Amino acid sequence: MKNLKQPIPYGQYPSEEIRLKNGKKAIIRLFKKADLEGIWKNFNDVVEEGIYLPVYTPVKTEWERISWYHDIRDEGNICVVAENPSESAPKNIIGQLTIEHIPWEAAAHVGQLGIIVQNQYRNQGIGYKLIQYAAKLARLIGKQKLILSTFTSNKMAIHLYNKCGFQSVGIYRHQYFVNDRFQDELMMEWFLD
Ligand SMILES: CC(C)(COP(=O)(O)OP(=O)(O)OC[C@H]1O[C@@H](n2cnc3c(N)ncnc32)[C@H](O)[C@@H]1OP(=O)(O)O)[C@@H](O)C(=O)NCCC(=O)NCCS
Repeated sequence: MKNLKQPIPYGQYPSEEIRLKNGKKAIIRLFKKADLEGIWKNFNDVVEEGIYLPVYTPVKTEWERISWYHDIRDEGNICVVAENPSESAPKNIIGQLTIEHIPWEAAAHVGQLGIIVQNQYRNQGIGYKLIQYAAKLARLIGKQKLILSTFTSNKMAIHLYNKCGFQSVGIYRHQYFVNDRFQDELMMEWFLD
């Protein structure tokens, strides 16, 4: 198995221009420090939607944002963003994806995926492109499998994950209490070829 602690080629790996379903262009690339405000604004907006994430509290401080940035870089995790080149920061960051190592030595071949696309840019194919781009990087660093979980009520996300090759492996029932109701958690995995 490859050495999974090899650094991600931040600042070197080529970006990719994509065409959205509405015909507009976007860029997919590895993240940089200047993206932090946009990334965390997107996260906080999804927390505020109160539908998709098992989180109640937005991330507010610069310290939290910066420590997260250093954790991602130092641990050799992957963070990819989708950028609208016609907007300036922080509005330019319209989606983001992370693939993080599992904190067990024996699961070094597995990556845990998380993804968010800004509300007004959903259903344009950005999620699919983010996953394809990040999966290439994951293969490059020796990941053989990606895992994730989502609420069973998140039909858009489940459709996207199935389309990419993820398969459902089980459900934790009433795993989270969000917005005054219980949510079941669906676990999924994708063996990368
Ligand atoms: C889930 C998410 C990342 C998907 O990103 P996206 O850019 O909208 O994804 P895409 O446009 O590539 O794909 C969405 C797919 O869902 C389909 N879809 C939309 N609404 C749907 C629904 N109610 N049921 C089933 N499929 C649906 C779309 O048709 C599209 O599929 P297609 O390309 O085959 O036509 C985005 O919706 C999001 O950020 N949601 C809020 C945060 C979240 O849920 N994150 C994941 C937590 S696990």
